Amino acid sequence: MAIEYEWRGAFEDEEANQLHAEGFDHKYVNDDWNEILARLSLGWVTARDRQGLVGFVNVIWDGRVHAFIEDTLVANRARRQGIGKRLIAIAVQESRAAGCEWLHVDFADHLGSFYFDACGFRPTDAGLMQLR
Ligand SMILES: CC(C)(COP(=O)(O)OP(=O)(O)OC[C@H]1O[C@@H](n2cnc3c(N)ncnc32)[C@H](O)[C@@H]1OP(=O)(O)O)[C@@H](O)C(=O)NCCC(=O)NCCS
Repeated sequence: MAIEYEWRGAFEDEEANQLHAEGFDHKYVNDDWNEILARLSLGWVTARDRQGLVGFVNVIWDGRVHAFIEDTLVANRARRQGIGKRLIAIAVQESRAAGCEWLHVDFADHLGSFYFDACGFRPTDAGLMQLR
């Protein structure tokens, strides 16, 4: 099935909310994704097939040299076909093109083979604090 990828591609908030709820296994939440991304993102990547939004990743940044991967999502119906890997590859390319020097990501242990082996990140020490 042909997938179309787009950096800063247009999408409806509802599509992103559905994908997020499915991907992170929570109830549907009515977030205003387009408004949030317009304020806070370097960019994002959309992946579409004939049924609609099938993949998404958000790239936030510090306005200078650090970019951060957030919310890598592929719909259940299309997993393990290389879509997630391609989303990250485009995020890498566009972050580099924007002048960033570092791309960060954090993730649960079971996704090590996705981020390290498939996407090319290397392990590093990092810190995380739950605030609420
Ligand atoms: C993580 C996620 C984005 C991967 O998307 P995907 O399109 O299925 O990934 P790809 O097909 O590009 O995977 C490439 C390789 O990464 C590895 N990989 C992908 N998903 C994996 C998983 N869930 N567990 C372990 N390895 C995985 C595999 O080696 C895979 O190659 P293979 O299929 O030939 O074995 C997708 O599973 C998802 O949306 N998960 C729910 C949301 C989530 O947890 N996002 C990450 C937040 S940090």
